Amino acid sequence: MVLCLRHALAVLVTLVAIHHGFTYVPKSRHNQEWKKLILTHHWPATVCEMDHSHCKNPPKYWTLHGLWPDKAQMCNNSWPFEYSEIQDILPELNHYWPDILHPNKSQLWKHEWQKHGTCAASLECLNTQHKYFSKGLELYTKVDLNSVLEKSGIVPSTKYYQIKDIENAIIGCFGVVPKIQCVPPHQGENVQTLGQIEICFTKELQLRNCTEPVDESLLSLNDPLNWSYNDDLHVCDNSTNTLYPPVKEL
Ligand SMILES: *[C@@H]1O[C@H](CO)[C@@H](O)[C@H](O)[C@H]1NC(C)=O
Ligand SMILES: *[C@@H]1O[C@H](CO)[C@@H](O)[C@H](O)[C@H]1NC(C)=O
Ligand SMILES: *[C@@H]1O[C@H](CO)[C@@H](O)[C@H](O)[C@H]1NC(C)=O
Ligand SMILES: *[C@@H]1O[C@H](CO)[C@@H](O)[C@H](O)[C@H]1NC(C)=O
Ligand SMILES: *[C@@H]1O[C@H](CO)[C@@H](O)[C@H](O)[C@H]1NC(C)=O
Repeated sequence: MVLCLRHALAVLVTLVAIHHGFTYVPKSRHNQEWKKLILTHHWPATVCEMDHSHCKNPPKYWTLHGLWPDKAQMCNNSWPFEYSEIQDILPELNHYWPDILHPNKSQLWKHEWQKHGTCAASLECLNTQHKYFSKGLELYTKVDLNSVLEKSGIVPSTKYYQIKDIENAIIGCFGVVPKIQCVPPHQGENVQTLGQIEICFTKELQLRNCTEPVDESLLSLNDPLNWSYNDDLHVCDNSTNTLYPPVKEL
């Protein structure tokens, strides 16, 4: 607990220090005003399970799915993804922000930039592709979800977890409420599968609850990448047993 609190404090202090002095544009072009940034982590074993095929030896740690403004998408069609802008951070991107379904390809980054990055770019600290992807990596590293869960004894297992325990591990560390998504039970079963964990930030890049404002339900936060995936994830049910599946070795 002490470790966790110190951890949370370190995240806050560093973020505040780094973001001192930024400015942001009040409204984006499509009148899509957004209020929070969602750092979305997904569990590779579940992603692979949902897709049925493409994965060989996926990572055994939570990887980054994206950094998403909550209420804006596709803000600038004339700002294409430029692979050359992120050359120097490719090793980190490949490790922490890999395209689970298309290994060693840049499809995921292209999609994330076009759909989410072009909107996030209304913040000065995210207004280039290099800044956007670097900041995603930086937030991912600072949050360190893998350690946070592990410290609370939440590790991949064939036994079941309760969603409250997973949520409390995160709240205990950061003092903010995450959004946790699962693949609902298959027909005839009563076990859901942990799939995605979102940690939310203000526009000043400070940790905040994912739960407010209440009108967030107006927008689906799932992120279709032509993956069978998008319809499959739902906010986890807090009364259903939850599987946090180990990665299958192939
Ligand atoms: C869209 O992106 C282009 C290319 O970066 C840029 O020149 C333009 O100002 C952007 N438009 C808006 C509304 O941000
Ligand atoms: C991806 O690239 C790395 C380094 O070039 C290589 O070691 C790895 O085998 C590749 N993975 C796949 C699935 O092609
Ligand atoms: C965040 O959520 C927790 C738990 O629901 C609540 O106690 C806290 O006041 C919320 N914080 C803010 C800033 O809304
Ligand atoms: C989406 O998937 C379909 C069928 O798998 C494929 O034909 C199509 O090219 C994909 N689209 C994109 C944008 O990847
Ligand atoms: C479980 O979820 C329901 C509906 O979302 C909520 O009303 C209830 O308070 C939750 N139970 C616990 C123990 O958090």
